[in-house]
Amino acid sequence: MKEINVLVTGAAGQIGYALLPRLASGETFGSDVLVNLRLVEIPQVVEKLTGTIMELEDCGFNTLGKVEAFSDIYEASKDVDWALLVGSIPRGITINGKKIEERGDLLKINGGIFTDQGKAIGENGKKDAKILVVGNPANTNALIGMIHANNSNQTWMAMTALDANRAKAQVAIKLNVAISEINQMIIWGNHSPTMYPDLENANINGKSVASLINDNDWIKNDFLETVQQRGKAIIDARGASSAASAANAAIETVKATLSPTEDGDCFSAAVISDGSYDIPKGIIYGFPLKTTTDGKIQIIQGLEINSYAKEKLEITTKELLEEKEAISEII
Ligand SMILES: NC(=O)c1ccc[n+]([C@@H]2O[C@H](COP(=O)([O-])OP(=O)(O)OC[C@H]3O[C@@H](n4cnc5c(N)ncnc54)[C@H](O)[C@@H]3O)[C@@H](O)[C@H]2O)c1
Repeated sequence: MKEINVLVTGAAGQIGYALLPRLASGETFGSDVLVNLRLVEIPQVVEKLTGTIMELEDCGFNTLGKVEAFSDIYEASKDVDWALLVGSIPRGITINGKKIEERGDLLKINGGIFTDQGKAIGENGKKDAKILVVGNPANTNALIGMIHANNSNQTWMAMTALDANRAKAQVAIKLNVAISEINQMIIWGNHSPTMYPDLENANINGKSVASLINDNDWIKNDFLETVQQRGKAIIDARGASSAASAANAAIETVKATLSPTEDGDCFSAAVISDGSYDIPKGIIYGFPLKTTTDGKIQIIQGLEINSYAKEKLEITTKELLEEKEAISEII
């Protein structure tokens, strides 16, 4: 049986709990691949992973390989094929008597974590490892990690698939169609309330979703706000941030890289900008992506961006440039 080594940080957290069984079950990597899990937690929490490991054993998956718990990211990164970086310090936590509310403070604290994780994966991960950053602020955490990994054969992504799924769900309700009918749902920019879900380029049977909805007021107001603020709405309703849907989006992103993307469709994730669509190089930006038949991940080119969308892309670009500026000392 083929084997794959998968590292998950924040493995004792909410998303970790929903994610791990689906990584191990065969659903993600296939029924013929043995999945070795490297679970990473901070030292104070690593003990809790014993329970998670017992539960994974008790699931009885044929595809579960070796499961190990680590608090040392360098050890954990050895020969990893995939790293799902879920753990990060959340907004609102109190550190040394100070409540961390400012995005700048959050960026710096998480910056330290992602500096180490990047170095570890760059040095010890497989040469073609793929990395998906889920922990917020995901785009800039991924940028820090990628720079410190300093390994151009590895692919760093930040997760925007949850935003794409949220956008698809709203369209499915509005048009009374099945989710599976909606293709090419792009999330441009940052995984934050400035993201831009693009209904002009989303399509159903090749027809633009925006033209099918034919209600600009709904698209520019209700839809945009619902998708951009969905994370907050879930926290308000549940008292905790989205976990099952976030884990699902991570699984979908991994799966999207494992088989070629169909024409007219895309998957959404943020990758390093190469200047496509006039987005400045050197920020991790949500783009329409495809997996090629030889397994490469590429930005889909040639899509039209109208003037309204351009304005929205500029707003999220500006935010990412400001985030980059806030962590300039550590990159
Ligand atoms: N990109 C997205 O779409 C998306 C969606 C939902 C949540 N998130 C983010 O995902 C992250 C995790 O969410 P959650 O609900 O699982 O949080 P959680 O608080 O339940 O779990 C986070 C876990 O990470 C661990 N952790 C913290 N620092 C770590 C480090 N340096 N190394 C290893 N582990 C570490 C914590 O001990 C904790 O167990 C948060 O940052 C959240 O904002 C992102």
